[in-house]
Amino acid sequence: MLPEYGRPVQELLTELAELKAGDLPVRGGKVTAYVYDTGRPEIHDAAHRAYAEMLEVNMLDPTAFPSMVALEKQVVGAVADLLGGDATTPGIFTSGGTESIMLAVKAARDHWRATTAAGGTAAGNSAPGDAGEGAREGAERAPQLVLPVTAHPAFHKAAHYLGVEVVPVPVDPVTFRVSVPAVEAAIGDRTILVVVSAPSYPQGVIDPVAEVAALASSRGVPCHVDACVGGWLLPWLREAGAEIPPFDLRVPGVTSISCDLHKFGYAPKGASVLLFADAALRRRAYFASAAWPGYTIINATVQSSRSAGPLGGAWATLQSLGRDGYLELGRTTLEATRRLVEGVSAIPGLRVLGRPESSLVAIAADPDAPGGAIDMFVLADEARGRGWFLQPQLSYAGIPANLHVTVTGVTLHGVEEMLKVIAESAEAARLAGPAAVPDGLPELIASVDLEALDDATFTELAASVGIALDGGGSQGMAVVNAVLDALPAATREAVLVRFLSAMYS
Ligand SMILES: Cc1ncc(COP(=O)(O)O)c(C=O)c1O
Repeated sequence: MLPEYGRPVQELLTELAELKAGDLPVRGGKVTAYVYDTGRPEIHDAAHRAYAEMLEVNMLDPTAFPSMVALEKQVVGAVADLLGGDATTPGIFTSGGTESIMLAVKAARDHWRATTAAGGTAAGNSAPGDAGEGAREGAERAPQLVLPVTAHPAFHKAAHYLGVEVVPVPVDPVTFRVSVPAVEAAIGDRTILVVVSAPSYPQGVIDPVAEVAALASSRGVPCHVDACVGGWLLPWLREAGAEIPPFDLRVPGVTSISCDLHKFGYAPKGASVLLFADAALRRRAYFASAAWPGYTIINATVQSSRSAGPLGGAWATLQSLGRDGYLELGRTTLEATRRLVEGVSAIPGLRVLGRPESSLVAIAADPDAPGGAIDMFVLADEARGRGWFLQPQLSYAGIPANLHVTVTGVTLHGVEEMLKVIAESAEAARLAGPAAVPDGLPELIASVDLEALDDATFTELAASVGIALDGGGSQGMAVVNAVLDALPAATREAVLVRFLSAMYS
């Protein structure tokens, strides 16, 4: 409720601090996903101050605020310089990986519509920027996006928003890299874009970018490299001594690449860059409208009015760390990753999936361990009880359930403690046994029409696995994860939507 009279700032800040007390900590390295800490508070402080300085500048109209154009050129230029482009490389500063990906897919879709016979037919009478007349006319003519099953869900979201059909391609069960022959088989005359990840988030491995990009190019199809998590990481790891294959704009056939600065750029959230190999493709990401009697709209991004705060924060982070700062973070990140992989491999009952080429590590149970496989979701709860957050990843497409760790610049100083906690938690999970899923619950959930459930019934269902949606606090998440893991993806999605809506009701 809005207070009748304005409240003093100190009171507001105290309330915010109280609210945040229940959050996961954003600094210190004990949260191994979501947050990126340099371990250097002065860098984050510089970013906060620049963020606040630019906060009220509206990126809606570049002619009104030339400061943001200058900053955006510097930030996009820095990313282009690192990723095989130069000062002329066209790019867009966006709010994050999802928005960069959304724009890459929109550019590819509109390029396909404008330049191919199949696209022209499917597009029908739709206006540029329309969300997919072709898709609505019939799935058999919908534009298609070819992507590895390990690609980030932002592509599924983009496809969903833009009237595009996803064609998933399997990955090798040992290396977790996309199968090139399967990509070849998936490309058709409705393919608007082929996607590869450098690296993929789930196992931290780099898809065969050069082979897939060459293949796409030979079929006249654009190729996007999702380097959202790796774009500002892999070059520093390479300089620090890691073997990193070519993955950026230098690779023939790569037509666009996304690189998030709010991940390994260590910038505050709201910062990503999308680069294109040519300016004509960037223009297809833009949206203009003069179809109303108000101000003219020319947007490079999904958002129209948007704060230049994240741009200021990203610029300040890049400038205050500089090359030597990022190289040092790359060195410590590489050292910590090697130590983590080695340490986990030595813990009985655990193994690392694939051979991570970046600093993203997936830890799974050894299915052949004496006494049975450890329940990784129970392990995650045990680690949480010891103050460490390891991110659960559900089984999918034949890839087993596992726990994700994003190693960052701050991890090294705590890596031995992390390994100790993982080993203790693994032992505790072994003793506890698998999560106690109520008999028949996954089957029950899979059989009910989740859309038709009323909130009270859904709340009861959640309570049966230990989740209190009324704010009464939740037990561990192992049972919830185990139930989700036992469901097909479409049912998982339906449950998650119900869950979110119940949380906010
Ligand atoms: C490879 C990859 N792509 C895309 C994204 C989406 O980024 P965002 O959460 O900034 O939208 C992520 C996020 O982790 C990612 O790892």
